[in-house]
Amino acid sequence: MKKIQMVDLISQHAQIQTEINDAVNVVIENASFINGPQVKSFGSNLSEFLDVKHVIPCGNGTDALQIALMALDLPEGSEVICPAFNYVATAEAAALLKLKPVYVDVDPELFFMDLEQVKEALSPNTSAIMPVHLFGQSGDMEAVLDIAKQQGLKVIEDAAQSIGAKSKNSRSLGTIGDLGITSFFPSKNLGCMGDGGAIFTNHEALADKSRMIASHGQSKKYHFSRIGVNSRLDSIQAAILDVKLKYLNNYIRQRQELANYYTQELSSIDQLQLPKKSKFSDHVFHQYTMVIASESLRDDLKNYLSDKGIPSMIYYPKPLPYHEAFEYLGYKKGDFPVTEALCEKVLSLPMHTEMTVEQRSYIVEQVQNFFK
Ligand SMILES: Cc1ncc(COP(=O)(O)O)c(C=O)c1O
Repeated sequence: MKKIQMVDLISQHAQIQTEINDAVNVVIENASFINGPQVKSFGSNLSEFLDVKHVIPCGNGTDALQIALMALDLPEGSEVICPAFNYVATAEAAALLKLKPVYVDVDPELFFMDLEQVKEALSPNTSAIMPVHLFGQSGDMEAVLDIAKQQGLKVIEDAAQSIGAKSKNSRSLGTIGDLGITSFFPSKNLGCMGDGGAIFTNHEALADKSRMIASHGQSKKYHFSRIGVNSRLDSIQAAILDVKLKYLNNYIRQRQELANYYTQELSSIDQLQLPKKSKFSDHVFHQYTMVIASESLRDDLKNYLSDKGIPSMIYYPKPLPYHEAFEYLGYKKGDFPVTEALCEKVLSLPMHTEMTVEQRSYIVEQVQNFFK
């Protein structure tokens, strides 16, 4: 049996290698490395795929968050509500811009920001909410929009892990708030072969501003209207993404099939909470994340699987507010009980588009054996 990987990009690449090579060769032959036609083409294909008016490609998902926040011109020092159980980039971008991340706990099933806590976290200084569609599905975005509307707040959706997922009323995640972002990090559902990211919006003025900010704040060549950044998706990555975009729905289907298989085979194990189906969106399974009954059992399972040649990952091992970088915010242990419990108990199984039948049965067999 082929070695099991958490993400098998080598096998995925092998399936589309000729198409990728051809697309990359066009860029090389024309030396159109920066702002080549591939960037425009990919941007417009992605905007059609997501049914959003504007896609602004940029250097990576973290830049996309920063640019989206800059485009909103939020008052310095104002508060931005972010989930405590998440990757660092969302709150990091806010903090970098001298906005104050205000963390809220998440719900224990969908890992979406707890909306009661969002309401409690509101203050006269709140300027934005940053919901994150963790692992590939969403919570109640309509409720987020309602809160934002009532309070006059902006909503920036982090769809780095959920590209291609749709809300219950068929809107692509990442296109529901004022602005949304994604990452094309290689292991993402739509990943390139380096770094990449994009900003989404249906608002023309925000799209223009985001484009300008991503390009040194230039309103036209050598006319610098505001302080910006240099954040570009290069043409080679755009060419690769344009090829892979055609396969994204297939990739998602393969992930969902694998997730269904895991769920079907593992559902009788009482000590496991398997991914819950959201009533607010579908799930594109960037990760298949289980919650195990206890920390020691989780750690033992991880070691047991590792001994059997099965990788697994802990996303995420520590609540964000307790990291040194966020110490200045003054949070303390006990402030985010759900996030704390999740950090102790979550474990993600291998999830990718190239899993063989033999590999997936071996994985569930070993998980079942551990709990026997
Ligand atoms: C939820 C989330 N937000 C933002 C990012 C940042 O994306 P990038 O690594 O492309 O900067 C990631 C990627 O790892 C992510 O998972």
